[in-house]
Amino acid sequence: MPRIAVVPGDGIGTDVITEGIRVLKSVAPDLEYEHFDLGAERYLKDGATLPDDVFERWKTEFDAIYLGALGDPRVPSNVHAKDILLGSRFRLDLFINLRPIRLLDSRRCPLKDKGPEDVSMVVFRENTEGLYTGIGGQFKRGTVDEVAIEQEINTRKGVERIIRAAFAYAAEHGHDKVCMSDKANAMRHGHDLWQRTFREVADEYPQIAASHFYVDVLAMELVRCPEQFQVIVTNNLFGDIVTDLGAILQGGIGLAGSGNIHPGKVSLFEPVHGSAPDIAGKGIANPLAAILTGGMMLNFLGRPEQEVRIQEAVKGCLLADQVTPELGGKLTTSAVGDAVLSRL
Ligand code: NAD
Ligand code: IPM
Ligand code: MN
Repeated sequence: MPRIAVVPGDGIGTDVITEGIRVLKSVAPDLEYEHFDLGAERYLKDGATLPDDVFERWKTEFDAIYLGALGDPRVPSNVHAKDILLGSRFRLDLFINLRPIRLLDSRRCPLKDKGPEDVSMVVFRENTEGLYTGIGGQFKRGTVDEVAIEQEINTRKGVERIIRAAFAYAAEHGHDKVCMSDKANAMRHGHDLWQRTFREVADEYPQIAASHFYVDVLAMELVRCPEQFQVIVTNNLFGDIVTDLGAILQGGIGLAGSGNIHPGKVSLFEPVHGSAPDIAGKGIANPLAAILTGGMMLNFLGRPEQEVRIQEAVKGCLLADQVTPELGGKLTTSAVGDAVLSRL
């Protein structure tokens, strides 16, 4: 039976993962779960972030990791999130950050006259390099002469594999367009590598139209004409930013799911949103992103039909206004969980 490592994490992470697990248990009762007490609370207690023995067990004993969110005002350095979330992405080599942008209910889209057929795409965010590796340094910190360097890493292997994954996904899902986004007009070394690699891989897929936008224009085009996009591939930081933009196109950050994937290896699934300290502990966090994320995890485990069931139930709740306050509803986190369960 597939084994799932569960990390509720910080803030609203615990609330939304509780609902996600209830839904998963209903749709896929045969999965096995083990909870891991990792996050800010644990770090403040004994200094542990991602212990080596836990990491080894994840790698060898589990099929997927289901994570809520990490981030707590009591840990301003965010060191635990860096070790657990970015640490898992890097050390498990989860090079695909798959982030669907799918509008399920037209009324939730902030754009005029756009429906589910207009907002339906996936973003392939590179997840193991770019500006996220922490390579760099500070010199003369805290003085007027301070220098701070953050290096952007782009390797041929890293760039090629995420671009290949985007084209392979497009081909497999019957899409005929892939758009790559970079900032090669300003970042002449790393993003030139993206340009060349993209053209080479695109040549192998003559049936798929390969297009390109600089990331500033991509931001504009996503709002002006989202229907032109099917598959977007971009680097780590740009992918982070455009998927929050994408989250609002589908109705809100509380509706956006994601998977950190290395095909064939243990992979990590988490909502796009963070720990939302402003609403933590109030019982009003929207659990739908976590629930949809659970669906993505089932798909990864080879059960696409179970993901569709979850999507349909979530869509039903949205259309019936069974939602939390940030979407104009009156329901609590657990009441939304109940509503999804009753539709299942
Ligand atoms: P955030 O996503 O936590 O919150 C942004 C806004 O969206 C807030 O107003 C919040 O209330 C709202 N929001 C987020 N999720 C919601 C939900 N499910 N239902 C209703 N409203 C929701 O982003 P932030 O405030 O920039 O980050 C807070 C902390 O979370 C930081 O420490 C950050 O580093 C961390 N973070 C973690 C992850 C992760 O673990 N994957 C992702 C993003 C941010
Ligand atoms: C996300 C988050 C993370 C990221 C943070 C918490 C490091 O914003 O998963 O989108 O930037 O990747
Ligand atoms: Mn983000």
